[in-house]
Amino acid sequence: MRSNVLNAWRGREKKALLMVLAACLATPIFSLIPQLKVHFLPFDEVRDLISAMTSAGAPDMPPAEINDASSWDGWIKSRDSEIRGRIDRGIEDSISNLILFGTSYTQLLPIPTSDLGADVNGQLTPATRARVHALAQAVVQPGENERLRFAQDFLRRRNLSHDSAETYLAANLQRLILDEREYEMKQRAARQSTDPAALLMTRATIYKERGLSFDTSLEPDFALDTMLKQLVQKGRLARGSIRRIAVIGPGLDFADKRIGLDFYPVQTIQPFAILESVLRLGLGQAENVRVVACDLNPSVLAHIEGLAGRGREGHPYIVQLPNDPRNDWPPELVSYWQHFGDLLGTPTQPFAPPRYFKGVGVRAVSIRPYYAERVSGQDLDIVAQQLEVPAKGGFDLVVATNVFVYYNFFEQALAMQNISHMLNPGGFFLVNQILSNQHPDSLKLTDQCNVSFNAKGLFGDEVVAYRQQ
Ligand SMILES: C[S@@+](CC[C@H](N)C(=O)[O-])C[C@H]1O[C@@H](n2cnc3c(N)ncnc32)[C@H](O)[C@@H]1O
Repeated sequence: MRSNVLNAWRGREKKALLMVLAACLATPIFSLIPQLKVHFLPFDEVRDLISAMTSAGAPDMPPAEINDASSWDGWIKSRDSEIRGRIDRGIEDSISNLILFGTSYTQLLPIPTSDLGADVNGQLTPATRARVHALAQAVVQPGENERLRFAQDFLRRRNLSHDSAETYLAANLQRLILDEREYEMKQRAARQSTDPAALLMTRATIYKERGLSFDTSLEPDFALDTMLKQLVQKGRLARGSIRRIAVIGPGLDFADKRIGLDFYPVQTIQPFAILESVLRLGLGQAENVRVVACDLNPSVLAHIEGLAGRGREGHPYIVQLPNDPRNDWPPELVSYWQHFGDLLGTPTQPFAPPRYFKGVGVRAVSIRPYYAERVSGQDLDIVAQQLEVPAKGGFDLVVATNVFVYYNFFEQALAMQNISHMLNPGGFFLVNQILSNQHPDSLKLTDQCNVSFNAKGLFGDEVVAYRQQ
């Protein structure tokens, strides 16, 4: 079974894939997508890292009593449970963003930024309370609205009655707004510090206590595309060198924390974005390349398995690509947006934005089933777990954007070890933030590039490339 799974994953033989599907059907606990085997990060692989970090006095070390394999095994498993325990708080945050910005369930005007949702004392404003009430009413009868159904399921899982749901939603939203203010204050303090490393250090782990958000947008994909182009120009990546790509934390476009557009269906973008960049740059050939989307959020995985399954049945996957003029994208990002999907599909009629978002441009692309079925979902906690990949049968490219920022420096180093474990020699790991230099020696930093998402350079990403030795 295991070797069949790997063959199918390599995408070499249709016959092997059929055998795997038959085996999966006979094993009800597995989904139709073949899952790679996963194990917890073993102590042997972190022993040296722990002592190096301890002697360097690095921040965020694990408790001192972790000094052998058995104490480590217990710790890493409990860490995995704690990390997965943060998923629900991320869902609460996404529902709060839907309350602030959503237009699919109410005629009330969106709150322009989360900060304006509460007064100086942190009390929700009357306009925000009205929106909480509107959402609490709407989830009772969600109809076909996917986001409302999602919120309804979530509230049901929490055993909340209609009355208590509204109080609960208001409290979550208040918490989110206060959290956002605290993050802003921390960043401001770091910006004012005389220590140049302070801002970087603060930003690198700013969400380490926060719920695991799953939102996504096009900007980080543009940042990765820019870095891949740079690697090709510098001759670091050869034509046809990429067959297996892992996207760590692809996310779902549900209700983004900055704008939260919800006039189109929930979608994922990154697996297709990276696939298209690789094909466009000649780094891989369509028939050989596969994308494994690794995530720990069951909703993200279910969405990816759904689209891949529909791809196998011959259905395309449609993505909606909004361009909000308030973001003031630079010309390169506008061009990336205009051409997104040229290789993978064909333009199709987009959803029209509601009146309030009149200036928002929208493109839609119907991605061909052939590409939808090249993507699969894989349950993985990248901090605590490793994928079992055969020697030289691992990944050639691993990307992770807006994932590491949810972890402290030690957890980030563990995730890098797990990524190093899954990469083939010479393979690349791309990430959109500077990481601490306390990390496994097997990953060598080769390139850095600053990518702006704003014509005035007000915000953007620092993309970093590591090469597996
Ligand atoms: C904020 S979203 C980022 C989505 C996308 N990469 C982007 O940049 O737009 C973070 C994603 O990482 C996933 N994630 C967080 N921690 C993870 C972990 N330890 N292992 C795997 N996935 C994780 C979340 O479930 C979510 O899908």
